[in-house]
Amino acid sequence: MEQYAIKGGSALVGEVEIGGAKNAALGILAASIMTDEDVVVENLPDVRDINIMLQAMESIGVRVEHIERHTVRLNAGNVYSQVIDGDYIKRIRASYYLIGALLGKYHSAEVTLPGGCNIGTRPIDLHLKGFRALGAKDASVSGGMIVAHADALKGAHIYLDMVSVGATINLLLAAAMAEGQTIIENAAKEPHVVDVANFLNCMGANIKGAGTDVIRIKGVSRLHGIEYAIIPDQIEAGTFMFAAAVTKGDITVKNVIPKHLESISAKLIEIGCEIEESDDAVRVVASKTLEHTHVKTLPYPGFPTDMQPQITVALGLAQGTSIVSESIFENRFKYVDELTRMGANIKVESSTAIIEGVKKYTGASISAPDLRAGAALVLAALAADGFTTIDDIKYIERGYEDFDVKLRNLGAMIEKVDSDYNLQRFKLSVS
Ligand code: EPZ
Repeated sequence: MEQYAIKGGSALVGEVEIGGAKNAALGILAASIMTDEDVVVENLPDVRDINIMLQAMESIGVRVEHIERHTVRLNAGNVYSQVIDGDYIKRIRASYYLIGALLGKYHSAEVTLPGGCNIGTRPIDLHLKGFRALGAKDASVSGGMIVAHADALKGAHIYLDMVSVGATINLLLAAAMAEGQTIIENAAKEPHVVDVANFLNCMGANIKGAGTDVIRIKGVSRLHGIEYAIIPDQIEAGTFMFAAAVTKGDITVKNVIPKHLESISAKLIEIGCEIEESDDAVRVVASKTLEHTHVKTLPYPGFPTDMQPQITVALGLAQGTSIVSESIFENRFKYVDELTRMGANIKVESSTAIIEGVKKYTGASISAPDLRAGAALVLAALAADGFTTIDDIKYIERGYEDFDVKLRNLGAMIEKVDSDYNLQRFKLSVS
């Protein structure tokens, strides 16, 4: 089993190139099924969730051609099935975007119920309610599958009870080719929602208001092929920005949209880091002791839930008492037990973590409980005294491309090892 072996204690310094946004890419890949013409997607991250999505698309007849590592040409002109089944698809959450896309184009879709990170109950009632409003009367979960069929799709006025990224993107897909106008109220405003809407508009859709909480979609009868480059990943960028903070380093994240990182930059400034922004890069300098603060995760433009473990790791090393409240997913503090094994002093009470800063973490043998928590534990290990091994790195690889390589280029002592022998070799090489 592969694990990360890490020797902590060095400040990370240098530049890192951020890849394409995983969560935008998942919606965009699904949307590309909605035309019979060629679609070229650039800046696609080479991570596990994306590769599973491409495999699912191939299983129903989509032609997937890798032009280079981050560019694919897709053609969905010969899709022969609207049923996506199989255990592998359970590993990703965003498989449900294939429901919106297939329902939108073919008025029929059956996809195995999604899995994804275990960070809460993660219902899909809002997706199903929206599909039903658009005319898929049977949209439901049945026999482990999400099913949705419609004679025709008709625009509707949909109010989302909660701000949901997944439901907003799924309804954009389902409504793009529906007859008439759809209005989505209380829509999610995340950059990846806007990117999926921009992609659909480039394909000929008529979507207005993405990025605000009211999105208006006028259905079109046909979508066409395009070439499109995905936006940079806000969370990958944020993770490296916090890597600078916890290791007292100096990192410039390149190929980013600084506007998407504002809530993250604001918190870094609050805890004592310096931030320099340019057009497509942000530099984080963390020379001083970290200061405590309070954080509450919120939908965009608030502080992202996907950055909650990373900021908690930083606040675990800050002076004084910090409070982190998780308002999106109820089960997102599972990693705190692992962090405690590294010497953190954190008490979790329901959806709030009360953090008493400690001077240092110490290396330990720990496991990644999910994608973002796994990445955050890597940051903790990089700041810790001594050696850490992290198991279950498959979760981290779902969303971070070459995480170990990028960290090594910044001076981190980290290696992916797959045997005790390799682990001992790594220990010898860094001691
Ligand atoms: C997306 O998940 C992301 N996943 C998550 O990223 C991210 O944490 C989350 O949005 C919030 O930003 C993908 O894009 C693939 P939601 P999603 O629907 O769409 C409730 C990562 O690490 N809700 O915005 O599943 C839900 O329980 C992952 O990259 C309902 O009640 O999240 C939650 O409390 C982890 N009913 C809230 O809404 C529904 O039908 C927001 O969830 C749908 C959601």
